[in-house]
Amino acid sequence: MRPKVLVTREVFDETLEYLARFFEVESNQSDAPLTPAQLADRLADKEGALTTLSERVDAALLAQCPTLKAVCNIAVGFNNIDLKACTERGVMATNTPGVLDDSTADFTWALILATARRVTESEAWLRAGQWSGWKLKQFLGTDVHHATLGILGLGRIGQAVARRARGFDMTVLYHNTRRLSEEVEKSCHAAYVSMDELLARADILTLHVPYSPATHHIIGAAQLAKMKNMAILINAARGGVVDDQDLIEALQQGRIGGAGLDVFENEPKLDQRFLGFKNVVLTPHIASSSETTRRNMAMLAAENLVAALTTGKPPNLLNPPA
Ligand code: DGY
Repeated sequence: MRPKVLVTREVFDETLEYLARFFEVESNQSDAPLTPAQLADRLADKEGALTTLSERVDAALLAQCPTLKAVCNIAVGFNNIDLKACTERGVMATNTPGVLDDSTADFTWALILATARRVTESEAWLRAGQWSGWKLKQFLGTDVHHATLGILGLGRIGQAVARRARGFDMTVLYHNTRRLSEEVEKSCHAAYVSMDELLARADILTLHVPYSPATHHIIGAAQLAKMKNMAILINAARGGVVDDQDLIEALQQGRIGGAGLDVFENEPKLDQRFLGFKNVVLTPHIASSSETTRRNMAMLAAENLVAALTTGKPPNLLNPPA
């Protein structure tokens, strides 16, 4: 009998066709997010799962899934998966690094430009029929070219963002837990600075750190207070990296110039006060969502699942001890 696997959310036809060559596939193509109880029920007799950020894989779930051997996330982020609990149960966990770097970097730039140059705000105004003619002082924005770009987290995505900054003749600064090699710094034209210097000098600060206890609220009141009054904050990384309450207070008090946000705490129930700010661009966690990239992410996750259940060696294994 072929191993049974669950695909927890809607995926592309080719993903399902590929999985069906190896497994008996059950798929939630209706795309309604599964409750923890539904997920446990549907995983009870499965050996593998193709998961997304909307499913929490933790000790409580794993205890109800005795046959589960592999959980393959369709995302590079894996904060929805308790890796320790997976390892303890011998469940392999994988993610999809690499395939989404460029699309996420492109979208980061979309947020930067839209926020700095007031694209969504002015478009909403035009659509509302308010435009009566050209004015010299209409929707004055902030220049991106020759500004200082601060990148917190110069990993694969941060580096792709940095490389794109060259076209805008920007000064690029970064901060990481570890300073990167001279070679990487040169290829990104990025200079390493302390966190405090990054906050103080950036005209635009963009975040590209993974979410973990170490990065929870890494940008909060204290950090926002160190930023320039006109600085723009961009978050296409993860909700929870920024303290949304503190960011809202900084926006209310005009202590920051604006924000471009693709991710939020408690997604999709973002704090409704964000909707009231004209200087904030809001998007629904779509930074990696180009047609090609989302297809590639789903296929890479499927390839991880096939490798996990056939060879025990998926290419993007997050917990080798499992
Ligand atoms: C990721 O890959 O972690 C993205 O946030 C999913 O869209």
